[in-house]
Order: sequence, then structure tokens, then C-alpha cells
Amino acid sequence: MERDQPTTATRPRRLVFALMLAVGGMQLLSACPGINGPADDDDSADDHGGPDDDDSAGDDDDSAGDDDDSAGDDDDSAGDDDDSIPFSDAQLRGAELWLEYCGMCHGDQGQGYAADQANALSNASFLAAASDEFLHSSIRHGRPGTPMSAWAFDYGGPLSDADITDIIAWLRRFGAFQLSGLDDIVVSGDAQTAEPQYQQLCANCHGPDGQGGSVSSVANPWFLEAASDGFLLHAINKGRPGTTMPAWEAVLSEQERYNLVALLRSWATPVEDSKVPPFQPDLSDHLIGAGGPAADFSDQLRDGRFVSMSEVHDALLAGQEFIILDARPGSDYLTEHISGAISAPFYRMEEAIAVLPHDRWIVTYCGCPHTLSGDAVDSLLAAGFSQAAVLDEGYYGWLSAGYPISSGSERY
Ligand code: HEC
Ligand code: HEC
Repeated sequence: MERDQPTTATRPRRLVFALMLAVGGMQLLSACPGINGPADDDDSADDHGGPDDDDSAGDDDDSAGDDDDSAGDDDDSAGDDDDSIPFSDAQLRGAELWLEYCGMCHGDQGQGYAADQANALSNASFLAAASDEFLHSSIRHGRPGTPMSAWAFDYGGPLSDADITDIIAWLRRFGAFQLSGLDDIVVSGDAQTAEPQYQQLCANCHGPDGQGGSVSSVANPWFLEAASDGFLLHAINKGRPGTTMPAWEAVLSEQERYNLVALLRSWATPVEDSKVPPFQPDLSDHLIGAGGPAADFSDQLRDGRFVSMSEVHDALLAGQEFIILDARPGSDYLTEHISGAISAPFYRMEEAIAVLPHDRWIVTYCGCPHTLSGDAVDSLLAAGFSQAAVLDEGYYGWLSAGYPISSGSERY
């Protein structure tokens, strides 16, 4: 996929690109490294014994709401933007923000899976069920523990409430129809009864505890906080046509589906809504192992670009001098980061470029695990740096290896 650098200078170009795509109704097929999103893998639904993605499941209308056909449940996940309707100012701003902050993972048209696990947000079936509150909350708080960051200012992210509202206005172009009353539905089911069925039918994709894998988590505390029973039931009943998420309403009885909702609900844990003061990282203090021998990763790169975390960890232990750059939004850095790393979010790379030395290695990382860090390396290379590499396993690889991490605004 061709991507511009996320710099202010290229914003207008990105906007034109968005409009071109929207007007052309063209579907952008992503070709980023590290994609293995389920949208590429149409057959796996069948492998898991799920039904096809169409709606022939029938509308045995249940309490999931007055789900009539105009919900557009069969639509493809992207490209439904009606080009005959002019963009409002809010939608134009939303499109621009989308390309700058979201498209690199969720796809330029919201089609999903430009980065692992980043689901299809322009999916009409998703948009029919997702209230503005659900979208707002998901974008504000993110999904801690996944590559989805908290984007709101209040949590250390780059976006204001108005920005988030505009992004939602743009997304709604892909599915203006919204189910009413969905969030009032309260399902009663038995979680324990559903457990074996979940392991048999769902765990392959969503993980044995719902923690996600190649597809999104269904157990994330912030997801369960934002998602009503009706939202969960709708996802299970109708699936997400155009993705590998099957529709289960013709396969499972109503009570079985209610039990599954109860099981997901039973995984909810309390969320802590901790806002932070504005975060201005100090980029002048950036060296790890200051005074030690300069680290040299040039012989250890995979594809001339990726350095493994064990090499980086060895350099840390050896007291070598280099820089680790956290390319994720500031909110992620504040939550947890690699010890010694500086926060240089991909949308503020110019500031880092102005102060970082050219004669020391710079290792960048993100959570997804190559998308934002790859952008950061591209920006560095374009600015004339030659010693820059992407941490191959990404932040979550580092975390699960038990290597040192820190939290808060300090490097260590
Ligand atoms: C073949 C893989 C696959 C299987 C099997 C599967 N899912 Fe999914 N599921 C997905 C994908 C992919 C998505 C996200 C689709 C999108 O919107 O991009 C999803 C989304 C969901 C969502 C909505 C999550 C959100 O964040 O919006 C729920 C709830 C869900 N699945 C529950 C289940 C349950 C319960 C089962 C078993 C009965 C199941 N899934 C089986 C692939 C699968
Ligand atoms: C680094 C990659 C990445 C970026 C950038 C990103 N997201 Fe996400 N997003 C994800 C992933 C991964 C998930 C699924 C997390 C999970 O497993 O629960 C997600 C989930 C979401 C969800 C919840 C969807 C659902 O069905 O539950 C919304 C809404 C969303 N993102 C909106 C946005 C918006 C708006 C932006 C830009 C401001 C954005 N994302 C930027 C990776 C990303």
C-alpha cells in the first residue's frame, strides 16, 4: 500500500487521495507487510463450521431489534460511501483525520485489516449496531492491551472530542442506517452452558478466553464496557458480512446465542477511567546507555529493516548507546513503554527528526507490530537518517518476553 508520511505538509494530499477513493468508489486492497487479517481469508469461516456470510439465515426476528433488510447487512464491508451525497464540513475534516490517524490500520476506506486485528469499521452491519456512544467510547479509551490506542486528549492522545465526532460523521457515510432500541436489549443467558460451545465454535478466531488473536478481542474490558447486550447479540446473529465473522442465527438456537452473550459478559472486568494531564515528551534526553559504545545493528537486520528484540535487549544489557523511539500515541507510552524509550508519536515525527542525532542507531516500535513503527522509520530515512530499524516483534512481543518496561511520562 502506498502511504504518505503522516506529516502536516502532506495532509492536503492525503485528503485529495481520500476524496478520490470515495468518489471513485474504489476498493483499496492493502498490501502492507504484516497483514494477515481475516478479511483476506474468506474460507476460514467454513473451516470453522460456520455458515456462509449471507443473510439467507433469515430474519427470524428476535429481540435483537427491528432488523429489517434496509440494514444493509449483506453489503460489502467498504466502498458503500454514496458519492452522490456531498461531504459536509464535518465529514471532510473526519476524512482527513481518518487518513492521518486511523487508515493505516483500519484501511483508507475503513475496510479493515491494514494492520492485524484492526477490524472493518465501514462495515454496514457493524455501523447499524454501533451507536455514536459506542464509537466515541471506543475511540476515546481505545482498547488497552491491543494496538488500538486511546486517542482522546484526556488520555494522552492527539484528538479532541470534536475531532472524534467528525471522524464518526465520516464513518456514517458507509452505513447511515442505525438500528433503534438495540442498546436497550438485556439478554438473560447462562454463561457456563455456553462455554463448551464457545470453545468449539469461536475460540479458533477469538482465542480461548476471548482475548483475540488474528481477529479482535471480545473480552477487552473497554469493549465490554461500551458494548450493550444488544450489540453483542447483533454481532453474533448477523455476523459481519464481508469479514470472516459468520452469522450464527440460523445455526444456533436463540437460547444458545443468549448464553454466548452471557459468556462474553461474564469476562467483563471493571475499567478504570484515568485521565492524564497534557503530555509533552522531552525529546532532548533520548540516549540509552549514554557514554557507552555506539550500538550497531547493521549486520543484524532482517530485510534491511527489522531488528529482533533479542538483539536490542542484548545491546541494552551491554550498555551500548542508541535510541528507542515509541511511535505509538502518547496515551500508550504513558500506560507502558519499553524502558529507556522516548515518546515520539508517528504524528509528531518532525519534532523528533529535528533533535535526534544521525550517528546513533534508532530503533522504533509500535503495537501492531510494524505499521506505525514502519511509518516512523520511513520518515527518518526520508529525512536523511541511515541508522533506523523497526523492532520486529513490536511492543507486545517485548512485553511477553518479560523484557524491561516502565510506565508514566519518565523514560525509566
Ligand atoms: C472465522 C473466524 C470467526 C469465528 C469462528 C467467530 N468470529 Fe466473531 N468475529 C470475527 C471477526 C473477523 C470479527 C470482526 C469483524 C469486523 O468487524 O471486522 C468478529 C467480531 C465479533 C464480535 C464483535 C466484536 C467487536 O469488537 O465489534 C463478536 C461479539 C463476536 N465476533 C462473537 C463471536 C462468537 C460468540 C463466535 C462463536 C459463536 C464467533 N464470534 C466466531 C471472526 C470470527
Ligand atoms: C495501530 C493500529 C490502529 C490504529 C492507528 C487505529 N486503530 Fe482502531 N483498532 C485497532 C485494533 C487492533 C482494534 C481491535 C482491538 C481489539 O482487539 O479489541 C481497533 C478497534 C477499533 C474500534 C472498535 C471496533 C469494534 O468493533 O469494537 C474503533 C471504533 C476504532 N478502532 C476506531 C479507530 C479510529 C477512529 C482510529 C483513528 C483515530 C483508530 N481506530 C486507529 C487498531 C488501530
